[in-house]
Amino acid sequence: MSEKIYLYPVWVRFWHWSNAILCLLLIFTGISMQYSDPAYPMIRFDWAVYLHDIAGILLAVSYLGFFIGNVLTPNGKHYIFRKGIVNNLIKQAKYYSFGIFKGEKPPFPITEESKFNPLQKFSYIVIMHLTIPLVALSGLMLFFPELMIFEIFGSKALHITDIIHVIMGFFISVFLIVHIYFCTIGCTPTSNFKSMFTGFHEKH
Ligand code: HEM
Repeated sequence: MSEKIYLYPVWVRFWHWSNAILCLLLIFTGISMQYSDPAYPMIRFDWAVYLHDIAGILLAVSYLGFFIGNVLTPNGKHYIFRKGIVNNLIKQAKYYSFGIFKGEKPPFPITEESKFNPLQKFSYIVIMHLTIPLVALSGLMLFFPELMIFEIFGSKALHITDIIHVIMGFFISVFLIVHIYFCTIGCTPTSNFKSMFTGFHEKH
C-alpha cells in the first residue's frame, strides 16, 4: 500500500489549474499573433488579441493571489532557497540522469515539510518569482504603452519591453513541456496529475 500525504491545499489547486489554462491560452494566442500569416491565422487576429489581453489580465490577478497566498499560508516556505542548494541540485540531477534508472531511492524524499525536490524548487522559484512577474509586468506595459517611460529609453522602450515579453513567453513554453514531463515521474505516470486534483500526493 502506498502512503498518501496532503500537499496541495484547495487554493493552490485552484490557482494552479486556472494558471495552467491561462498560460496555455496565452501561449496559443501569442504564437498565433507572432507567427501566423495574417491571411491564414491559427486564430483570427482580432480574437487572438482580445483573448490574449483578457487572459493576460486574469493571469496577473491570479499571480497576485498566488503571491498573497504564499505570504499568508505555510505554502510559502516551499518557495525559499535553503543552504546547499547547488550541491542539492547536482545530487538531484545525478539521480534523474543515473540513479533513477538503477532503481535507487530518491535523494530528497517528499515530505509535508519539503514537498519539492531541489530541481522542482529551483524551477518553481524561477518561474513564479521571476518569469511570470516579468511576463505580466511587460504585458501590462504593452497594454498601457502611455505609462511607459519613453523619456529615458527613447522610442526603444516599446521594443525592449516587447522583446522581454516574448523571451519570457518562450521560457514559460519550454518550462511547461519540461514540467509536464517531470510530473510523469511519480508513483505511477499519472499519480502526480491526480494529486493536483485531490490534494494528496502518493508516496512510493
Ligand atoms: C497543462 C499544464 C500543466 C500541468 C498538466 C501541470 C501539472 C502539475 C502537477 C501534476 C503538479 C504537482 C506535482 C509537482 O508539484 O511537481 C504541478 C505543480 C506545480 N505547477 Fe504545474 N502544470 C501545468 C502548468 C503549469 C504552469 C503553466 C505553471 C507556471 C507557469 C505551473 C507551475 C506549477 C507550480 C509552481 C507547482 C507547485 C505548486 C505548489 O504546490 O505550490 N504549472 N503542476
